[in-house]
Amino acid sequence: MKFVDKVAIVTGAQTGIGLAIAQRLAGEGAAVVLADIADATPQARAVQESGGRAIAVKVDVADEQSVQAMVERTVAEFGRVDILVNNAAIAAGIQLRPFEQIPVAEWRRMQDVNAMGPFLCARAVAPHMRRQQSGRIVNITSGTAFKGALFMLDYVASKGALMTMTRSLARELGPAFITVNAVSPGYTLSEGNLANKDFLASYREAAIAARALPRDGWPADIVGAVAFLASDDASFISGQILAVDGGSVYH
Ligand SMILES: NC(=O)c1ccc[n+]([C@@H]2O[C@H](COP(=O)([O-])OP(=O)(O)OC[C@H]3O[C@@H](n4cnc5c(N)ncnc54)[C@H](O)[C@@H]3O)[C@@H](O)[C@H]2O)c1
Repeated sequence: MKFVDKVAIVTGAQTGIGLAIAQRLAGEGAAVVLADIADATPQARAVQESGGRAIAVKVDVADEQSVQAMVERTVAEFGRVDILVNNAAIAAGIQLRPFEQIPVAEWRRMQDVNAMGPFLCARAVAPHMRRQQSGRIVNITSGTAFKGALFMLDYVASKGALMTMTRSLARELGPAFITVNAVSPGYTLSEGNLANKDFLASYREAAIAARALPRDGWPADIVGAVAFLASDDASFISGQILAVDGGSVYH
């Protein structure tokens, strides 16, 4: 029970990797806010029914007021914020296409959700973490930004931004003893990815072939690294990007 008395916000926690992270943190004692643009009430209820503390909060991470309201609700409900996991993204539903075919409006929305979202969330929790002189921010990036993956330039650009933001934010928040790290999953069989047949057909076998450990990756494979970086065990680690991909990207 690493997270007794800790309060965590996990964005994009209605499904997939975010839900698995929320369940893990709650299972280890954290009070967890499942924050999502989709309704995560049933998922929060399931956590409560298994003995955990959780609420669902609707948020659009690309909307400043909505993010502010999410953090205010968290503090009203649980009194503090110790952990922020920036997981929400336009991700599993991604449409693969040559870069010339990406509409400008979709490019902008991708950056707004995947890169500005974590900026807004970090900015909203920072005053609380600074006051506490402690905090953990874990950004969920992607191995695609290391590899130069094909046919998702808007997504790769957003995750590259999040990787570099991780390093700069670590330096800005370090004086308040707030750590900022990233976990970089490889191709992972979240529910959303399993439903995206085009993506599955293009990526699944290739991802396995590129790994030191030649098997599928699942949301459960990602959560241990996130829990570690969110814990006291990682109090002297900041600005790092931890690839959790079966040994695919070495950096
Ligand atoms: N699954 C993979 O192969 C893989 C690989 C590398 C990185 N990642 C990253 O891991 C994270 C989770 O991946 P996943 O496969 O579970 O994704 P997913 O698409 O299944 O889930 C993303 C969640 O974010 C929510 N969301 C989307 N836009 C939002 C917004 N504007 N505000 C709030 N919530 C919003 C969605 O409703 C959904 O619940 C993402 O950051 C993704 O980029 C995934």
